[in-house]
Amino acid sequence: MRTPLVVGNWKMHGRLAEARELASGVRDGLKRPRGVEVALCPPFTALPAVAEVLTGSPIGWGAQNCHWEDTGAFTGEIGPGMLAELGCRFVILGHSERRHLFRETDDDIARKVAAALRHGLQPLLCVGETAEERRQGLTFTVVEGQLRAGWAGLRADEIARSVLAYEPVWAIGTGVNATPAQAAEVHGYLRGLVSELASKETAQSLRILYGGSVKPDNAAALTQQPDIDGALVGGASLQAQGFITIAKKSASRGGSSKE
Ligand code: 13P
Repeated sequence: MRTPLVVGNWKMHGRLAEARELASGVRDGLKRPRGVEVALCPPFTALPAVAEVLTGSPIGWGAQNCHWEDTGAFTGEIGPGMLAELGCRFVILGHSERRHLFRETDDDIARKVAAALRHGLQPLLCVGETAEERRQGLTFTVVEGQLRAGWAGLRADEIARSVLAYEPVWAIGTGVNATPAQAAEVHGYLRGLVSELASKETAQSLRILYGGSVKPDNAAALTQQPDIDGALVGGASLQAQGFITIAKKSASRGGSSKE
């Protein structure tokens, strides 16, 4: 019942010409994706160009961050309404690079999630533990804290319009992905929490993506786990062919949906 979702997080990559070429490559290679939804999240500056390339195709697009206010004296920030106006379907929030490099707090992230929902965007909330936290046996504690805080104050119907991503920090950009078993264990735990925070039905329909060194050769093993509903792809989303392969390998068996 959950169509897998594969999202390319381009991070701070993609001048206009490159962005157009990459988005066109993905669009042309995935003309009729079966059993998978696909979206690209370029830098803000490339969003209009990518939107133009993808309009009329089944591929969606989104942003990598937003502010919690709609407008105001917030130099350098982008409001969620500005993203909605560009046709964004998603906004990635709480990515570990934002948490760690830019000191975003759980409270900041919760305000961003709520603001995104107000504008009809699907917030793609990222949670994940560091290597040290995993060593100390704190993985579940950390992801639970991030999830409860990031969704603080949301109604069940708002949670139902959200997407979650489990991104262990130690797997991001390292080439060391979580094993399918490690990821599945955390995804199962998160799904149990969704059931508690929203409802059993929402837990069954909400997509939980895995992110962290997803590549064409490990995508199938990860995304065919029962609780893994697609991938959030960093480095490997910068090559059209590789990203297309990941999307195809993440499609549900039978090309429609998975339980
Ligand atoms: P990599 O796929 O480069 O490890 O990055 C993952 C990520 O941070 C996606 O948001």
